[in-house]
Amino acid sequence: MSRIVITALFILLSSLSFAQQHKKTDINSISSPDGRITVFLSEENGIPYYSVTVDNQLFINKSRLGFETKGTDNYKDHLVGLETAQTHKMGKPVVWQQPWGENKTIECHYKLLWRSYASKPDSDSDRLGPVVFCVEIRVFNDGFAFRYQIPQNDIDTLFITNELTEFNFVEEAASWSIPANFDSYEFLYRSQSLSAIDNANTPMTFHTFSGIYGSIHEAALTNFPEMTLVRTDSLRFRAQLASWPDGIKARIPADQFCFHSRRQLLHEGDSISSPYFFTPWRTVQIGHKAVDLINSNLILNLNEPCKIAGDLSWIRPMKYIGIWWGMHLGIQSWTMDERHGATTANAIRYIDFAANNNIDAVLFEGWNEGWETWGSRQNFDFTKPYADFDMDSIVRYAARKGVAIISHHETGGNIYNYERQLERTYQWLEDYGIHCVKTGYAGGLPDGHSHHGQFNVQHYRRVVETAANHRIMLDVHEPIKPTGLRRTYPNMMTREGVRGMEWNAWSEGNPPSHHEILPFTRMLAGPLDYTPGTFDILFDSTRNLPTHQKWNDNDQGNSRVHTTICKQLANWVILYSPLQMASDLIENYENHPCFQFYRDFNPDCDWSEALQGEIGEYVVIVRRAGESFFLGASTNEQARTVRVPLTFLPKGKKFEATIYADAPDANWETNPTAYVIEKRIVTRKDTLEIRMAPGGGQAIYFK
Ligand code: NOJ
Ligand code: CA
Repeated sequence: MSRIVITALFILLSSLSFAQQHKKTDINSISSPDGRITVFLSEENGIPYYSVTVDNQLFINKSRLGFETKGTDNYKDHLVGLETAQTHKMGKPVVWQQPWGENKTIECHYKLLWRSYASKPDSDSDRLGPVVFCVEIRVFNDGFAFRYQIPQNDIDTLFITNELTEFNFVEEAASWSIPANFDSYEFLYRSQSLSAIDNANTPMTFHTFSGIYGSIHEAALTNFPEMTLVRTDSLRFRAQLASWPDGIKARIPADQFCFHSRRQLLHEGDSISSPYFFTPWRTVQIGHKAVDLINSNLILNLNEPCKIAGDLSWIRPMKYIGIWWGMHLGIQSWTMDERHGATTANAIRYIDFAANNNIDAVLFEGWNEGWETWGSRQNFDFTKPYADFDMDSIVRYAARKGVAIISHHETGGNIYNYERQLERTYQWLEDYGIHCVKTGYAGGLPDGHSHHGQFNVQHYRRVVETAANHRIMLDVHEPIKPTGLRRTYPNMMTREGVRGMEWNAWSEGNPPSHHEILPFTRMLAGPLDYTPGTFDILFDSTRNLPTHQKWNDNDQGNSRVHTTICKQLANWVILYSPLQMASDLIENYENHPCFQFYRDFNPDCDWSEALQGEIGEYVVIVRRAGESFFLGASTNEQARTVRVPLTFLPKGKKFEATIYADAPDANWETNPTAYVIEKRIVTRKDTLEIRMAPGGGQAIYFK
């Protein structure tokens, strides 16, 4: 855009702003469609604030909005709120569809408030500067969100050095979070009162003393650093963004300001457009029961619709197994040595098992050259199979057997090496007819970049787009946290970003309650490649092997899984992933009656509901896939019986329920592999008593 046009726009905006301050409307608040949540805007001494009530009780006290920037520092104070767009009374909820998800049909219903802020350069003068940012607020029945929209004005590059957004809680709450860290999410959850937190990553979930459940996160993080939270005093939290190595948080060059229709800006009219940059949404999900948080679609509703045009049939949920767990146990290796896992013979064995057991896909790790560089600056080649992994014949064999291949790209954090090979590699996979890749970023990034800074957010996004262009689905390990991008790019299937199953192989592992915290925290953000499915809970088959070797300093020598076997089954339902992995060695599945649940499981879910649960204690979730239902229930260290009315089943139909239950004497610690399988005929009029052992669970297939 030419300078002249920019200047003209600038003058137009300035004069509009000036004119509008005199006809400022009086609308300073906006309520959810059901009227229960209200967000208020206010200004004091040129500083913009928001506050929130739930059921007329103050919930978030006056909290700051704004930024600090380098060069043009007029984003944090000396501001005047100019106009308030008409509150948007979305009479009818909008319903949209996605190709896969916990729910394929989603309702979106909110009200909107939009206000722009202009700078007031001289407090004695009446003349205002240009609009420096706008705040768009959307209030849903299940929470609220706001984002900043920044006009380009005359800036070449906008340097954001700090975000000033606050969340100032009115009252103390119990909370569940992992610490803020700009390189990893692989931590155990802390359960502590809000006032005891120093910093936290999001989703940060809480339960206030007056009974509100909530969770702070972000949506549509596509070109910005991630937001964490730091407690600044008593119950006040402030956004803390991941940095570039030079301390700048976000750099937005002029060409990253885009033209948005006035409709996108104001949701009315369609005529004016000017270049704007939109930050991610700052979101607060709100529920009256703990499970309301799981049943909320707020994050997805704040993302852009699908951008992949045409045929989407290559995007499909899958169950998979893989040459993987053996490496984490230490009985196999990624490198081509005497323990090499990804050999042609093993690949054929895994493909055969998948074909014979209704498993859609097989993952191969350690198939390509570069694992020798593990631990130093890692240099993988993504199109060079090891000599003992016969790519051509494996691909042909899998195709003949109707089994999909999941390729693996461990980048070791060497972003430059991966980006150099990106286009060529995804073309190579497409030529082979491979439609799925697991990526990984285990290792420090070059040049002092952090995994969650804007640099890497842009990288992750570039990979998703490249993969989409080559019809490839992604499962990302060591990812940026999910913020709903799967709506826009539904090939972004699942990701880790959690202390997953692998930690049980070589550390003190994950305690039972981890699995009853995850659905209410990490999983509010999106699907999770936790890889539940270990049947050999104590690793009896590997413990005494002389070849067992440490590969990781966290190896405790006494590692094991901390659940019963039925909880491993239940976690396939509870820990939703459109790519769901049965993680154990196939030897441990051969002839095991419990594997029937995985055989029957349909990963292509249509509808879900979290029925009951309390954070860190227990959870019960049901999902429908086609005509079948799958129910998963799990408990922490406490044994528990929950009564579940089967009212989710359709009227007038009988179902055969296959129930995988903890045996009466099962216990995660002392007797983890004891189970009972029972079949019953049920209808929606029945109520099931679900009995769970300490650290146990129950999985049910309704046919
Ligand atoms: C860590 C990933 O989480 C794990 O799944 C993978 O096997 C290793 N990195 C090696 O890539
Ligand atoms: Ca990992």
